[in-house]
Amino acid sequence: MKDYDYSVQAKYYDVLEENPGVEAFNKVLDKLLKKHKVKSVFDITCGTGAQAIYLHKKGYKITASDFSKEMVAIAQKKYPKIKFKQADMRSANFGKFDAVISIFNAIGHLSKSDFQKAIQNISNNLKTSGLYIFDIFNFDFMKNNFIPYEFIDTCKEVDGIKYVRFNNNKFDKKKQLMTMNQKTYIQEGLDKPQIFRDSWDMQIYSSEQLKNILEKNGFEIVEFLSMDGKKFDKENSLFILTIAKKK
Ligand SMILES: C[S@@+](CC[C@H](N)C(=O)[O-])C[C@H]1O[C@@H](n2cnc3c(N)ncnc32)[C@H](O)[C@@H]1O
Repeated sequence: MKDYDYSVQAKYYDVLEENPGVEAFNKVLDKLLKKHKVKSVFDITCGTGAQAIYLHKKGYKITASDFSKEMVAIAQKKYPKIKFKQADMRSANFGKFDAVISIFNAIGHLSKSDFQKAIQNISNNLKTSGLYIFDIFNFDFMKNNFIPYEFIDTCKEVDGIKYVRFNNNKFDKKKQLMTMNQKTYIQEGLDKPQIFRDSWDMQIYSSEQLKNILEKNGFEIVEFLSMDGKKFDKENSLFILTIAKKK
């Protein structure tokens, strides 16, 4: 699987991904971290800082890094109180933390073998009994609910600029690999729109597979949840929010 560096979408990521779900999820995350008495958090795929900035403002001790230099630069400009670093989740090492987080499908960018590499590296960044919290598309939901036609997933106007994004994705159920094909139109007033095309693969998993992989790599599952913090439903949850503990 090719590494995907977000260089095409970094500039528009915050506008396109900004939605009430981001804030709602951060509250779920905060509650989870409080429940487990977490004080120090390493956001190992911080992107433009959606979780790291929120948690820092809530008083957590935050370390944050991401593979994409473009995403890191945006996070840094938005919030100078954290020193955002560029690093790969397969090798980043910045100490021993109470929790490592990787949110919004970030691990889907890794092949199955690189995911195991990342888990072992995450383990090196955790104290004993530290938590690894991440989410990923739920294969058991996706295999029955994948959208096979082109659809608009985002349509909004911000400061007089219109953004319309089309998805035309492919899904190899045998390999559990989704190929995301996005086309984004960005138009100021009635000017000729700029059109961006972007494409990348995402490896997805079932909850049983995640349990096996994590247990093989020195973790135990604390719980699986949906992104709203409610009980995970194998057939109906779009994402698997995984809370795993280093043994
Ligand atoms: C969908 S974004 C999520 C970012 C952020 N957590 C959020 O919720 O907005 C996925 C992030 O994973 C990062 N990523 C992908 N592969 C990575 C790797 N090997 N190491 C570290 N970060 C990686 C991307 O650069 C991107 O910023």
